Amino acid sequence: MKTLLTNFEDYLINNLPVSKTFHPYFEDALGNMLQAGGKRFRPMLLLSVVKSNKNLLIQNSMPVALGLEMLHTYSLIHDDLPSMDNADLRRGFETLHKKYDEVTAILVGDALNTEAFKQISNAPLHNDVKIELIKCLSSNGGIDGMIIGQAIDCYFENKILELSQLEYLHIHKTAKLIAASLKMGAIISEYDFQTQEKLYNFGIDLGLLFQIQDDIIDETYTEEEAGKTTQNDDAKNSFVNLLGLDGAINSADKLADKCEKILNTLDKNLKQSLEELLLKYINRHKIDKKSL
Ligand code: IPE
Ligand code: IPE
Ligand code: MG
Ligand code: MG
Ligand code: MG
Repeated sequence: MKTLLTNFEDYLINNLPVSKTFHPYFEDALGNMLQAGGKRFRPMLLLSVVKSNKNLLIQNSMPVALGLEMLHTYSLIHDDLPSMDNADLRRGFETLHKKYDEVTAILVGDALNTEAFKQISNAPLHNDVKIELIKCLSSNGGIDGMIIGQAIDCYFENKILELSQLEYLHIHKTAKLIAASLKMGAIISEYDFQTQEKLYNFGIDLGLLFQIQDDIIDETYTEEEAGKTTQNDDAKNSFVNLLGLDGAINSADKLADKCEKILNTLDKNLKQSLEELLLKYINRHKIDKKSL
């Protein structure tokens, strides 16, 4: 049996965005960062929740998982632009604006953002489910989520934030999309509202932890190890810059404990389905970086 991840990778390769025109390289650029890899953490969260009680809907959920990964990939392409974080390496490859040009990187980001919603709207799922999915992704990946997080992240470069403001920043730029990934799985699986909210709130803790770990990675990994530009957070409000490396690791340890405890309170099927994926991520700042 194919694993969820292989299943998703196959779906992605067979459903790359298409643009058959006389533009010499736009179609290649559209698929470039999607094919480059990445951990696929968000689609795996969504699909693991679906697997927990609606195994038969996994295939029908693939376009939604791909839409989520497209939106995330667009956020990375724009995040790397010279006017944002100015990074040269992403997912082990040259960033799009380096490989092609800045105009292409901006437009591929725009294209993946809209393509995400096209994928979801064309998924073989009930229309009312799809409306809920679109609401969830557009608010958490949009103005009330990732976008305001990125705006604050960039505006407050070289201006020190309070710890509570830094948490607000990290929750918006990263945690909300991770929380939305769990909730979107729950929407497809038709879990009750209470379970949807529980998973969403869990995702906020998990996503905050994920971004603190990312800040630790920026400080402690070489770019070969991370597959992306590192030591790039000097001007940023990162956990490492505000609390020091030990302080950041300590915050990550505390959140990791909290996340493990919440994981253990989930219903049996949900816990079973999420556990393998999550324990790896919850503890990723503790294990040997070579195994990541
Ligand atoms: C990187 O996300 C940006 C953050 C929100 C921390 P990931 O670490 O999930 O990047 P990929 O998808 O694996 O490349
Ligand atoms: C990016 O945060 C969060 C996004 C919304 C893309 P970072 O700027 O820390 O992500 P990396 O370290 O470049 O992957
Ligand atoms: Mg950034
Ligand atoms: Mg960045
Ligand atoms: Mg980072």
